Amino acid sequence: MKAFIATCAALVASVLIGLPAMANEGVKLDRAPISPTDAASLQAGARTFVNYCLNCHSAGLVRYNSLKAIGLTEAQIKENLLFTGQKVGDMMNVAARAREQREWFGNAPPDLSVEARTRGVDWLYTYLRGFYRDPNTATGWNNRVFPNVAMPHAMWSLQGVAEGHTETVRIEGEEHHELVIGAAHGGSMNSVQYDQTVADLVNFMGWMAEPHAIERHNLGYLVLIVLSILILLTYLLKASYWKDVH
Ligand code: HEC
Repeated sequence: MKAFIATCAALVASVLIGLPAMANEGVKLDRAPISPTDAASLQAGARTFVNYCLNCHSAGLVRYNSLKAIGLTEAQIKENLLFTGQKVGDMMNVAARAREQREWFGNAPPDLSVEARTRGVDWLYTYLRGFYRDPNTATGWNNRVFPNVAMPHAMWSLQGVAEGHTETVRIEGEEHHELVIGAAHGGSMNSVQYDQTVADLVNFMGWMAEPHAIERHNLGYLVLIVLSILILLTYLLKASYWKDVH
C-alpha cells in the first residue's frame, strides 16, 4: 500500500513539475500578439493552416464548414480551402497516412485540433518562428523550443533560412552552451510580415482548439448580469416582506 501511495505521489509530482518544463523547456517564450475576435486574422490563419500544415497534420475534430463561424462563406471555403475531391462537410483530415509519415519523418505529425490548448499559444508562436538550419539532423532543420524536432520548417519559403550554431560562453567561471540563431534570409516575407503570418496562424489554432471561447465569455457576462438582477429582486422582495414587522 505504501509503495502504491509513493508511486502515486511520484506520478503527481512528476506531472506537476514536468508539465511546465515540457511547455517551454527552459526557452523564454514570446507572447503571441493575437486577438481572438479579429475575423480577418482568423481567416488569414485558416488559409495558412490549410496551405502549409494540413498536408502533413490533420485537424480531425474540425469540419471545414465550421469555418463559417469565423466569417467565411461556403463558396469561399470551397474555392480557397478545399483540396480536390473534398466536401465542405468533411473533417480537416490529411491524405498522407500516419504509418507512411512515421517512415518519412521518424515521428508521425500529431493531430493539431487542440494543439493550442496542449502547448499554449505563446509556445506555438515561438516554435513556428524558431526553426534554424542544422546539418546534423535528418531534415536539416532544428528548432529552438523543440530541440531535434522531426518536423522540417514548413514555412521556410516565407520566412527564409536562419543559420544556427552553439557558442560556449563563460558565466561566473562556468561554461554554458548558448544557441545563437542569425536573422532569416531569402524568404518571400520580411520578419514583420512573417511574425504577423504566424500570429494569424496561431490565432486560428487557438480558435480551432476552443471554437466557443468567445461565446462562452459573453455568456458568462450575461449570467452575471442576470444573477445581479435576481439578487436585487430578492433584496426588494425581502424588504417588502419585512416592512410591517418592524
Ligand atoms: C512535412 C510535414 C509537416 C508539415 C508541412 C508540418 N508539420 Fe508540424 N510536425 C511534423 C512532424 C513529423 C512532427 C512531429 C515532430 C516530432 O515529434 O519530433 C510535427 C510536429 C508539430 C508540432 C509539435 C507537436 C507536439 O506538441 O509535439 C506542432 C505544434 C506542429 N507540428 C505544427 C505545425 C504547423 C502549425 C504547421 C504548418 C505551418 C506544420 N506543423 C506543418 C510534420 C509537419
